[in-house]
Amino acid sequence: MVGPNLWGVVGREAGSAEGFFYSPAFEELTHDWTIAELDAFLKSPAERVPGTFMAFGGIKDEQQRQDLICFLQQLN
Ligand code: HEM
Repeated sequence: MVGPNLWGVVGREAGSAEGFFYSPAFEELTHDWTIAELDAFLKSPAERVPGTFMAFGGIKDEQQRQDLICFLQQLN
């Protein structure tokens, strides 16, 4: 398993998937995954959370990010 389970991630506290080993950078996050926080993170993970283990360049296209976040909201 490369990344944390994203079931129910929208509205969940950041870095709280049970049993997943997060980066120190992620351990410091205290916010919940609101739409706005997810949008900023998925646009550019490493800029939003310097030091993150998430090796992903991000999604620059706003419409694609919105579509993806809508999809994530359905995982509940
Ligand atoms: C569209 C694709 C992706 C989405 C929507 C996504 C979404 C997310 C989200 C929302 C989190 C935070 C979860 C939490 O707080 O529990 C996260 C964390 C993480 N993701 Fe992704 N991710 C994607 C692609 C990837 C890829 C390609 C990788 C690895 C190659 C990856 C690896 C990780 C890792 C390791 C973390 C934990 C970060 C850390 O501890 O610093 N993700 N991802």
